[in-house]
Amino acid sequence: MSAAPIKITKTLFLILSLLLIGGCVTPSGDSAAGKKWFVMNNCSSCHGPNGDDGRAVPIAGLDMSFGRFLRKLRTTDAPIMPPFPESKITEQDAADIYAYLQSLKSH
Ligand code: HEC
Repeated sequence: MSAAPIKITKTLFLILSLLLIGGCVTPSGDSAAGKKWFVMNNCSSCHGPNGDDGRAVPIAGLDMSFGRFLRKLRTTDAPIMPPFPESKITEQDAADIYAYLQSLKSH
């Protein structure tokens, strides 16, 4: 009986640690799918079809962590770029776009 709270605490700790570790790992993305999401979500209309030929900052060959990239999508500090919540771009889709952008060369 008296051991139960300890067990629960340990289990909670384990779950929290896994969540924490999971949150830091970049999900592996599929760049071919990413290219599709990039166009479907109109990223290309501002950043250009090749990520560096639009009106907005070039993002081809993106050099930022996945975490930062995801934060940019969710809450942009740009007045022009709209935020993309989970309902529009899931974390997996974001990972695909991230993989796609990294596969592009910045010219
Ligand atoms: C309406 C135009 C517009 C659309 C649509 C748009 N962006 Fe942006 N984006 C911008 C502008 C302008 C900036 C630069 C301002 C800033 O970084 O705060 C920017 C910045 C960024 C940055 C940060 C670049 C850096 O070096 O800091 C990333 C990454 C990015 N956009 C990705 C995307 C992705 C992915 C999509 C599609 C899901 C997208 N954007 C859609 C206009 C747009």
